[in-house]
Amino acid sequence: MAAAIIAGLLRAGHSAHRILVAEPSDAQRARLARLNADLELTADNQRVATDVDLLVLAVKPQVMAEVARELGARPDGQLLVSIAAGITLASLQDWFGANAAIVRVMPNQPAMVGAGMSVLAASDAVSGPQREQAAYVLAATGEIGWVEDEQLIDAVTAISGSGPAYFYLLMEILEDCARDMGIPAELAGQLARQTAYGAGMSATDSSESLKQLRARVTSPGGTTAAAIESLEKDRIRDIVTAALEAARARSVELGQEQNND
Ligand SMILES: NC(=O)c1ccc[n+]([C@@H]2O[C@H](COP(=O)([O-])OP(=O)(O)OC[C@H]3O[C@@H](n4cnc5c(N)ncnc54)[C@H](OP(=O)(O)O)[C@@H]3O)[C@@H](O)[C@H]2O)c1
Repeated sequence: MAAAIIAGLLRAGHSAHRILVAEPSDAQRARLARLNADLELTADNQRVATDVDLLVLAVKPQVMAEVARELGARPDGQLLVSIAAGITLASLQDWFGANAAIVRVMPNQPAMVGAGMSVLAASDAVSGPQREQAAYVLAATGEIGWVEDEQLIDAVTAISGSGPAYFYLLMEILEDCARDMGIPAELAGQLARQTAYGAGMSATDSSESLKQLRARVTSPGGTTAAAIESLEKDRIRDIVTAALEAARARSVELGQEQNND
């Protein structure tokens, strides 16, 4: 995820000289160096954390407490941006100081291709310009949105955090079915991926509602109508709603486990 942010910043024209990266693994540092030779790469977290005005914490949630202990209280004016799933602003404030300026982010996997969706929540100490800084960093990986109520991050996790997997599953089903219907494997995969891509592009480009877009490909008595009727009869809305509730509940649960450590 950190590599996605760095690649996004570089794509956006941010100077590599202004990006410092701490990464413990030699192999990962070598991979990052291939992104841009001017990135400053080190295994030393303190080196990176000392002089910067914005510090992105992109370690696994279970490593965050250890990293926080190593870094300690932050210098005045430094903004922390945490992308660790489940780690609350309160935990981060316990570790980095009650008055630390912290933005908690829930990004998602398409950040890797610059088509991510990140939702941000800020601690009280975050200033207007710092909000803009955090938005600038995450916008380099795709779209962004803010929530004022941090608890909504659990719902966001269920929708956009885990969301790519739901679409991959649907694409998998399309691909498998296409093959079962006799379509050659390669074409079956192409149909599933390109149809999802095209639908995603149309939905993001259009000002019409999703319902209107759907109506446009659903002529009464036609093939799409037959499929949608079958899905509605089999209660697709209940199935998906229950899945999203399960994801949100799991996000709450994982958050409680991680923040009790
Ligand atoms: N991937 C997603 O789709 C996604 C979505 C939402 C949120 N997130 C959040 O993004 C964060 C990163 O996830 P990821 O998938 O990018 O995981 P990852 O690939 O494991 O990245 C974590 C990075 O932190 C490094 N690291 C480990 N210990 C460290 C330490 N003590 N100091 C400094 N760096 C250290 C790791 O190095 P090593 O490789 O050497 O261990 C690794 O490069 C997680 O907190 C996750 O919850 C990810």
